[in-house]
Amino acid sequence: MSVSHIGLLCSGGDSPGMNCAIRAVVRTALFKGIQVTGIKRGYAGLLRGEFQTMNLSSVGNIIQRGGTILQTSRSPEFMKPEFRKKAVDILRAQKIDALVIIGGDGSFNGAKALWEEHQFPVVGIPGTIDNDISSTEYTIGFDTAVQTAIEAVDRIRDTAHSHARTFLVEVMGRNSSAIALKVGVCTGAENVLLPHEKVNHQKIVDDIQRGIARGKDSSIIIVAEGPTAGRSYEIQHILKDMHHVDTHVVILGHIQRGGSPTSNDRFIASQMGHMAVEALLSNQFPKVTVVQNGKVLLTDLAKCTTKADHNFSEYQTLAQTLSI
Ligand code: F6P
Repeated sequence: MSVSHIGLLCSGGDSPGMNCAIRAVVRTALFKGIQVTGIKRGYAGLLRGEFQTMNLSSVGNIIQRGGTILQTSRSPEFMKPEFRKKAVDILRAQKIDALVIIGGDGSFNGAKALWEEHQFPVVGIPGTIDNDISSTEYTIGFDTAVQTAIEAVDRIRDTAHSHARTFLVEVMGRNSSAIALKVGVCTGAENVLLPHEKVNHQKIVDDIQRGIARGKDSSIIIVAEGPTAGRSYEIQHILKDMHHVDTHVVILGHIQRGGSPTSNDRFIASQMGHMAVEALLSNQFPKVTVVQNGKVLLTDLAKCTTKADHNFSEYQTLAQTLSI
């Protein structure tokens, strides 16, 4: 088949750099004489027929902007086959013959079903701050989110030192350790607590006290959000009630999802957007653009539909060893 009209959407949580990918898809397609329709608010918007024709200037001046100009959503409806059938009917009525989906593993599961149930051509671009998709070393937005969190922790360090305090800084990652580990190493955190880790409160207390004994006056503990945001408050209460240790909690939350993308995110997103269009034009689908061994390339969509927690316990040890 030959693709002459691409639909483009973002799905799931937004991430800095999605706009760079949108720009690259639109500009590459237009360069090749292919029409692009932007679909607003993800799969939910697709089901409501929220379309916009993309031209060269629709993606002008967006390379530096966080978020996504197409907006995004999480769509529980799309998990049901009858809604996916409706989506394909809508796409075919618009004469859209392929989809590029920018999102995480959940979004790719929706894309996989479109292909398997309706043979609708799809290519995915991994976009999530969590860096937690199988078969890719990188997802767009991770670098910016880590950089944002590092800048916040650096500021917290200043006041922690002045007041000789311990801070629990909660970073995003419901199931993913990636942000917590990298931020922990890069900020010299005394401890990093992973999403599903059983917290050893006594060890936290021992580490703080050992630091005090050798002249440290402040500590930073990076807490990955885990299944429920606000987990740090629970840890704070236990440290206070059972160990009589005072801590302060800072939850960085959605600050990590916004802001201007770093050069890394811009560069990878631009390559992936370009490659996604090339893949469709050479009839390579269903595929996902991934980073493997540091290179941007294509892999089968089916390999990218599960979560991968790049939970390198050596980074946890590294953070702790270097902050002793
Ligand atoms: O997009 C990934 C992520 O930011 C996770 O790190 C976080 O747990 C979750 O999304 C928060 O989702 P929401 O914005 O829907 O609350």
